[in-house]
Amino acid sequence: MNSAWSLAGQSVLVSGATRGIGRAIAQECLELGASVYFFARNAEQVSETQRVWQHAGFTAFGLAGDISDTAFCADLVQWIKTNGAGLNAVFHNVGTNIRKKLLDYDEQEIQQVFATNLMAPIHLTRLLFPLLVPQKASMVFISSVAGLTHLRTGSPYAMTKAALHQLTRNLAVEWAGQGVRVNAIAPWYTQTPLAETVLSNPDYRAEVLARTPLGRIASAEEVARAAVFLALPAASYITGQVLAVDGGFTIHGF
Ligand SMILES: NC(=O)c1ccc[n+]([C@@H]2O[C@H](COP(=O)([O-])OP(=O)(O)OC[C@H]3O[C@@H](n4cnc5c(N)ncnc54)[C@H](OP(=O)(O)O)[C@@H]3O)[C@@H](O)[C@H]2O)c1
Repeated sequence: MNSAWSLAGQSVLVSGATRGIGRAIAQECLELGASVYFFARNAEQVSETQRVWQHAGFTAFGLAGDISDTAFCADLVQWIKTNGAGLNAVFHNVGTNIRKKLLDYDEQEIQQVFATNLMAPIHLTRLLFPLLVPQKASMVFISSVAGLTHLRTGSPYAMTKAALHQLTRNLAVEWAGQGVRVNAIAPWYTQTPLAETVLSNPDYRAEVLARTPLGRIASAEEVARAAVFLALPAASYITGQVLAVDGGFTIHGF
């Protein structure tokens, strides 16, 4: 295979890889030859996911923990170091949403969305940086179209995703001298357990499809491939960008 389109011999970290977009990113990286470090909170699902991938002959290592737990993040980074790996790519995929109008949240809910989607990845990113420099690694944030335009609910979610876009641009410039690239993808609705909670409503689903020029919901694999592209050697001159993976949603005017 042309090495520009391969991750052979590389090590990557994927946050939240037991289901949905994160799992599809990890699967794509494994199929392109990478060793994958991953984590999620549910320990049983982490073990089972690791078992499935190892059984398939892939090199995958899972750890159970919550990204918003700073002690866990320190252990995670130490665990990767102990396994001897620098990292060639990091995919910040964990994210959560509480879908309400702004006035309907209580303070704690807003803080929870900010803690998981923004403060935790910032904290982990700072810890991971020393593992990125020797490899001239790539970082990809899984954001959302909610950070690019108005959606009818979820202001705190949208604010965290917009903040990740600016973090992407700032870090891309701060770290360019060390050869570390930073990009983000902004998906629209994607068929995952997180989105199924709203897409299972046929009326809501029809409204979503009516706003989507390609006329269908993305699969997790379609979104994952865009994220993985940004981490490949093939994307070596791309940094500081936010790629909408949205079936045309954000350019759909009238
Ligand atoms: N699906 C969509 O339509 C859509 C659209 C735009 C953007 N996105 C973004 O894409 C990303 C992934 O979404 P998804 O739909 O694939 O989500 P998902 O189906 O809910 O999967 C989330 C993954 O992250 C893990 N996770 C969740 N919270 C965690 C935490 N605090 N610490 C560690 N692991 C955690 C989950 O496992 P545990 O529960 O066991 O921890 C799971 O493996 C998110 O950032 C989301 O905002 C999704």
